[in-house]
Amino acid sequence: MPTAEFDRVAASADDTLREYVEQHPGHLPEALLCVANCAELTSILRGEKEAVQVLFGGSGADLLDQFYGDGLFTCHWLAAIAATVQEAAKALPEGRGLRILEIGAGTGGLASYLLPQLERGLHSYTFTDVSASFFSGAMQKLAGFPEVEYRAYDLERSPAEQDYQLGSYDFVIGTNCVHAVGDVREALGHLRDLLAPGGSLVFMDTASPQLWTETVFGLTSGWWSLTDRELRPVQPLMEREQWEKVLKEAGFDETASLPGLTGPRGGEGQIGVLARKAWTTGAAPADVEEATAEESGEGVELETSWLVFADAGGLGDQLVSRLREAGARCRVVTRGSAYASDGQDQFTVRAEAPEDWTQLVTEVVADAAPERFVYLWTLDEPAAPAKLMTCSAAQMPCCIWPKLKIPSARLPRSEWTNHPWCPVSG
Ligand SMILES: C[S@@+](CC[C@H](N)C(=O)[O-])C[C@H]1O[C@@H](n2cnc3c(N)ncnc32)[C@H](O)[C@@H]1O
Repeated sequence: MPTAEFDRVAASADDTLREYVEQHPGHLPEALLCVANCAELTSILRGEKEAVQVLFGGSGADLLDQFYGDGLFTCHWLAAIAATVQEAAKALPEGRGLRILEIGAGTGGLASYLLPQLERGLHSYTFTDVSASFFSGAMQKLAGFPEVEYRAYDLERSPAEQDYQLGSYDFVIGTNCVHAVGDVREALGHLRDLLAPGGSLVFMDTASPQLWTETVFGLTSGWWSLTDRELRPVQPLMEREQWEKVLKEAGFDETASLPGLTGPRGGEGQIGVLARKAWTTGAAPADVEEATAEESGEGVELETSWLVFADAGGLGDQLVSRLREAGARCRVVTRGSAYASDGQDQFTVRAEAPEDWTQLVTEVVADAAPERFVYLWTLDEPAAPAKLMTCSAAQMPCCIWPKLKIPSARLPRSEWTNHPWCPVSG
């Protein structure tokens, strides 16, 4: 039997809602989502209806669209994620695109915010969700971006098993989805495997339970799919420190997080989480290295083969000795007055002689194509601004060859590019 207090509160629900919306008009979608779920509370609790049906069906779908797209809790995080990706895109040499994978992409709120801000025809964007049922809505929303690829991706299963190439994304991004798994550590490990060396995972999530999020999302069965009870004993959300800790445990090299607003019952609401995979092979999981070597068909391990155009000042030599200490193979090219090669890892090239470059490329590729290039000769040109350039194999023709003034048609380009490429720094 409902108590008198219950009856009083229930009778005042409409007034409370009206008051709330008058005071916080910007939070109308959240308020209406609560109302929609509460209206079906009995059948949801009895198991007669799935909260997901209520949320994603009828007007709930529009409200979720607003919440994930323009909602006050969300839109600044979309802007933050978009700014992070844009910043990385800006730092790339001309012609080089980012490979972006969105996880748990659902209604397409993040994609529709980010895609218009990226240069067209350069970057690749893979829109994924565990459920393909989101794709038709997303395709409509993103109709102006036919280059987007739609694929199912289950955070809980190994990416290789789902036909994703390991080590092949520069960015994995998402909003409000990473918590929705049984085992967070395992899911993060899979995401790390998907990233190329130096690649970043950037997502936002809710850090601590808020009454309204529990009323809306906490009624879905997915909310309670957690199995890692030693990490998340009571509920699926995690605070920033916890995220950073598990990201490190999952093998990410660097982590950072951005605070969220503190809720009325304490604890942060939506937060930003960032993690970067290491550049070096040391931290790369064995399976990534194996997969890459297998794909290249040449037994070349990921990021272990470098071609360094060493400067006269010794920076290149220092880099080479550190890379060799770390177990990488480094071939070193210095400037000279005649082409020379020791038949192994040392080359001398006349900078102004195209035939030397062709010979260098032919010889290097015939041995084993390098995966990463570091061009330091600009440091020897006092008039030019000193700039360290590193790039990957696929990029080499576009960023280095023009500098070297060699017609790319003269180069065995396919040989250079037949290797998985990695993000660029510098
Ligand atoms: C709270 S919603 C966030 C929606 C989304 N980010 C958006 O902007 O619409 C959680 C999303 O994660 C997806 N999801 C749940 N479990 C998942 C899993 N195991 N792997 C991938 N996605 C999952 C859901 O299908 C849903 O789209």
